[in-house]
Amino acid sequence: MTDATPLKVGVVGLGYAGTTHAESYLGIPGVEVVALAGKEADRLAELGRTLDVPVLLDDWQDLVALDELDIVSVATPNALHGPISIAALEAGKHVFCEKPLAIHAEEARRMGEVARANNRVLEVAFNHRRRADVQYLKSYLADPGIGEIYHVRATWKRRAGIPGLTSWFTNKSLAGGGALIDLGPHVLDIVLFLLGEPRVTTASAAAHGALGRAGYGAMNLSAQFDGGHAAFEVDDLVSALLRTDAGTSIQYEISWAGHTADDEDISIELLGVDGGARLLVKRYATDGTLTIYRDINGAHVDITPQIHVVDKGHPMVIREFIDVVRSGDWAGHHGDDAVHRTEILDACYESARTNREVTL
Ligand SMILES: NC(=O)c1ccc[n+]([C@@H]2O[C@H](COP(=O)([O-])OP(=O)(O)OC[C@H]3O[C@@H](n4cnc5c(N)ncnc54)[C@H](O)[C@@H]3O)[C@@H](O)[C@H]2O)c1
Repeated sequence: MTDATPLKVGVVGLGYAGTTHAESYLGIPGVEVVALAGKEADRLAELGRTLDVPVLLDDWQDLVALDELDIVSVATPNALHGPISIAALEAGKHVFCEKPLAIHAEEARRMGEVARANNRVLEVAFNHRRRADVQYLKSYLADPGIGEIYHVRATWKRRAGIPGLTSWFTNKSLAGGGALIDLGPHVLDIVLFLLGEPRVTTASAAAHGALGRAGYGAMNLSAQFDGGHAAFEVDDLVSALLRTDAGTSIQYEISWAGHTADDEDISIELLGVDGGARLLVKRYATDGTLTIYRDINGAHVDITPQIHVVDKGHPMVIREFIDVVRSGDWAGHHGDDAVHRTEILDACYESARTNREVTL
């Protein structure tokens, strides 16, 4: 393969994620989206027309069976990530999968094994890590750094952000969980990326779903598919204490809903011996999101780097995925980091269910 190898992509899912995937591929020279699959016939026809995609299918199995595809992009309800990715990898396709990699770690590990056995790339959409403020903080931590980071506070909180009280998002078998499995992977990914990929060794968590069950907290989304699952079966708030093998503790809280002032706020605070840093992204803000705290000659000094975040990162992560596919060097791109993130989510759910700390 070369930098310009033509690649043919099929995208499964027509919602926000699937549409974003398709549009991101179309921005890359030599990459063609030749097939789309999804259940909403009108949306399928509309996307096919506007994005000029020739093959339009109702079900993912027909898409994965297309010989001409080099890549399958998975943007469906969480429970389908595993089956679609495994079938595509076994058919020799590279896979770009939405987060969470799978609804539990056992399936995620199997996905990684199948990618490795077939020597194909398995990449996961950790798009928020590509934010310019996160990337800047990563480079700041490398040099000059903030000393040993001993504690992290990492949260994503919404006031009313349950994505559809009657959609697949709140159905346990289709989503695997609620707020934690939905927003939690992004927050974990940013933290573990910034910390240099330590392994999480223990999790002690509590999970709640009281607001969702009481009918509070729905996000007003115009496009939600797979409706008809009326019961709220998942968590709307999970709070956890994680420990890593590097000795860092991580206070981790994810919520879809709460009677509180915090509304669509992502906050990641790193406490180091020589300095601190806080990324505070309120409502997907693009400027003024990062502050670095130092103590210089006995005075507190706050540094606010002027960084503008251009987008939420899907085009960048998909561009990098295509670069890896074209490089032909696929070892080390079998989803290992994403597997560990699903193990941590599993440990949080297990801890909440059993009222005890879980060792990974
Ligand atoms: N990375 C991010 O920032 C981000 C943002 C939003 C959603 N997501 C993830 O993307 C995934 C999809 O989320 P969404 O909000 O787009 O959901 P959605 O409900 O809007 O869309 C899901 C799509 O899957 C399709 N689908 C369901 N069953 C299918 C089948 N058997 N064959 C073919 N297609 C099928 C539906 O028809 C629908 O088009 C989820 O895993 C979610 O966690 C990630």
